[in-house]
Amino acid sequence: MEKKIFSEEIKNVILEKLKGERKVSFLVGAGLSAESGIPTFRGKHGFWTSGSKNYTPQEIGTKRMFDINSNEVWRWFLYRISICNEAKPNLGHIELSKIEQLLPFRFHLISQNVDGLHFEPESLINTVYLIHGDLRFMRCSEECTKQLFKIPQELVDKKRTRETPITFEETELLKCPNCNSETRPHVLWFDELYNEYHYHLDTVLRIAKKTGLLFVIGTSGATNLPQRVVRNTLKRQGIVIDINPNENLFSKKLEKLKNGYIVKATSSDALTELRKIIAQSL
Ligand code: APR
Repeated sequence: MEKKIFSEEIKNVILEKLKGERKVSFLVGAGLSAESGIPTFRGKHGFWTSGSKNYTPQEIGTKRMFDINSNEVWRWFLYRISICNEAKPNLGHIELSKIEQLLPFRFHLISQNVDGLHFEPESLINTVYLIHGDLRFMRCSEECTKQLFKIPQELVDKKRTRETPITFEETELLKCPNCNSETRPHVLWFDELYNEYHYHLDTVLRIAKKTGLLFVIGTSGATNLPQRVVRNTLKRQGIVIDINPNENLFSKKLEKLKNGYIVKATSSDALTELRKIIAQSL
């Protein structure tokens, strides 16, 4: 017999909540894209080597580091961009997009992922809030404008290894089209604060309050806004279900709560079964 990912108890909780009218939201992290070959941040491939020193993403992905050595920070991001450019949506992304079709108006996706995989035709999500930015774009590091600029396609398409340097011509392509200063990747760095304009801070906190059923998928729970999203949903008696093959900060918190549930599974397995549960309930 096929092994079920969701226990009968959790399935019944989901079915009960689906009968209501509150939002059904998904908060996702790097684990969703792991099966597309994009390294997670806190997994063993997340580090970056510069010279003889190893940096964690928490060290290299900072405004502080950009101010000291913008070339090295761009090199790390261009390497990540080249990995994302090669990556294809996996079953988890595709199932999530099917779930959105099943739950029009109620579905909201809050994504920490900057890889662009929610925007491919087969995994397209319409109602998505990117709370950590979007690697398809850059913006002026001097903030002459808040405008986002597409990263020039020749930079995106170039295959890079961890050793690939940035050429002089590429540095020129990374200048702000408006004022000619350096650009920066359009992502939230570890030493920066969330805001509404670029990262939808207030909007997602509001969504969380209106959410009856929140699925937290493939995230370690180490960042601030996701923690606040979960807290807001729990405070309004919403149900939160953590889906992750590993223990994480959310699972540790949720296991102690009566409206918290934990499902130990990969995102693709869990979302496939969840899509079937939702489809049957309609
Ligand atoms: N399915 C589901 N979850 C998975 C899978 C999978 N196939 N593979 C790994 N995971 C889980 C890991 O167990 C871990 O809990 O994905 C999580 C990845 O955690 P992180 O690397 O910390 O990524 P994330 O939580 O998205 O990081 C949050 O921090 O680095 C910053 O801005 C960056 O958006 C990122 C944020």
